Amino acid sequence: MSGNIITIDGPSGAGKSTIARLAALRLGLRYLDTGAMYRAVTYHCMHAGIRLDDPKAIAGALKGLDLQVELSLDGPMRVFVGGKEITDKIRTQEVTRNIHYVADVMEVRNFLVEMQRKIGENGNLVTEGRDQGTLVFPNASLKVYMFATPAVRARRRHAELQARGAETTYEEVLEDVSKRDYLDMGRELGGLKKAMDAVELDTSELSPDQVAESIVKLAKSRLKMQTRKIDKSALEAARRQAEEGKKQG
Ligand code: C5P
Repeated sequence: MSGNIITIDGPSGAGKSTIARLAALRLGLRYLDTGAMYRAVTYHCMHAGIRLDDPKAIAGALKGLDLQVELSLDGPMRVFVGGKEITDKIRTQEVTRNIHYVADVMEVRNFLVEMQRKIGENGNLVTEGRDQGTLVFPNASLKVYMFATPAVRARRRHAELQARGAETTYEEVLEDVSKRDYLDMGRELGGLKKAMDAVELDTSELSPDQVAESIVKLAKSRLKMQTRKIDKSALEAARRQAEEGKKQG
């Protein structure tokens, strides 16, 4: 590995995407959203008429799948299937609800893990997901495990949904959050788990900027990394894009 890899793992709603993007921007690293890759395969299966309760059919769907991701230093990660951009289309609640069928299939995980390792071959990456520090990049330069209480995560998510006019109660959202935790933590391969050598960050009482700043500080002190001067409007745009993406899923 030539450049640094920073892994950020944690449960849904801990604020990973916004924080990872802000930290990547400040450190001049590319940002990889591995959840988007699982979303893309789910989207592909849903649109290819694959039965989601049939793991063999899902594994078979990988054969014809042309999945591409485009990483950049300053913009969001873009996702393409068969040459068509689906970056926004993978953020629906329908996709979110169906992901677990796809994320449980070993062939899918092996396929995506291989793609992720290839992307990380030369380092210079902040990668975010559930298994990045444990399974995909066990030798990462810096590992972060981010969490917040289920109540805080459900409250944030509920506020986002309300802002979009969705009619869900806090209790329903809390149930959804708990269900996703249960499915993500119970997954045999690539389940959500803190790596032994990961730094734990509780985001319950902190803003995304504060948490991103802690990661930047760790990268500076432990990895002797330099930060880039980013003007306020670029930071604001990154924060907005990450928030927008999240709100839909
Ligand atoms: O990060 P995001 O919420 O978009 O991830 C969506 C889902 O994809 C997760 O709930 C999890 O089931 C799956 N996932 C995974 N491994 C990863 C990233 C995401 O299984 N590295």
